[in-house]
Amino acid sequence: MENKVRLFVNVDHVATIREARKTVEPDPLEAALLAENAGADGITVHLREDRRHIQDHDVSRIREKIKTVLNLEMAAVDEMVQIALKTKPYQVSLVPEKRQEITTEGGLNVVKQKDHLKKIRDQIQSQGIRFSLFVDADFQQIDASREVGAESIEINTGLYSELKGSETVIQELKKIRNSARHASEQGLRVFAGHGLTDENVVAIAEIAEVEELNIGHSLVSRSVYYGFEQAVRNMMQAIQKGIAQRAN
Ligand code: PXP
Repeated sequence: MENKVRLFVNVDHVATIREARKTVEPDPLEAALLAENAGADGITVHLREDRRHIQDHDVSRIREKIKTVLNLEMAAVDEMVQIALKTKPYQVSLVPEKRQEITTEGGLNVVKQKDHLKKIRDQIQSQGIRFSLFVDADFQQIDASREVGAESIEINTGLYSELKGSETVIQELKKIRNSARHASEQGLRVFAGHGLTDENVVAIAEIAEVEELNIGHSLVSRSVYYGFEQAVRNMMQAIQKGIAQRAN
């Protein structure tokens, strides 16, 4: 297994700050370019149905101007599929979406909507776009993702990042590790993300199957202290630390 983890920087929360004032700054495209300067492998945006942060024009400008690649997170609805087909990002990651939630609150229920997701997969893959599903660390959801024909899954690390007691963190990590192995055995590529920080990312990067991470909120938060490029560099260092701890 390759000892490299690609870091995709999610710039949604740069747009969250901009939208708080409905002005033009900070610009998620500028942040994306800084992230690339710092060594990010890709840029992630989540175009939410309520457009609370990223706007349609952000998606097209970022797609056009970045030197790396765009991962478009979106709900499994026709409006978003049409935008993806027009934008042609490198990758589409389907996520569940509820209007009332503060952020994505859990993985997709793939088991319950296999036929619907297969139709979307056909549309997305017909344009040469990679197709990924954001799921909880759950074997049933992983098996269903394979049946749907996803190329990869992104394991939801949200719960892991929120847990406090060391015993519960260890248990959740074990679930993530077992899920990563199971997914890889099913032929799925394994990504992870949600709630990751310089501290808790180390144990995730240590998991040999993990190839790609999507990280946003903590980078935008810490950019207030260190600047965006430095925040990305610090995260890359933490990821390297995890990789160095892999058992081989
Ligand atoms: N992965 C998915 C599917 C997400 O929805 C998000 C949040 O938009 C992230 C990763 C990044 O999470 P965070 O902003 O907590 O780093």
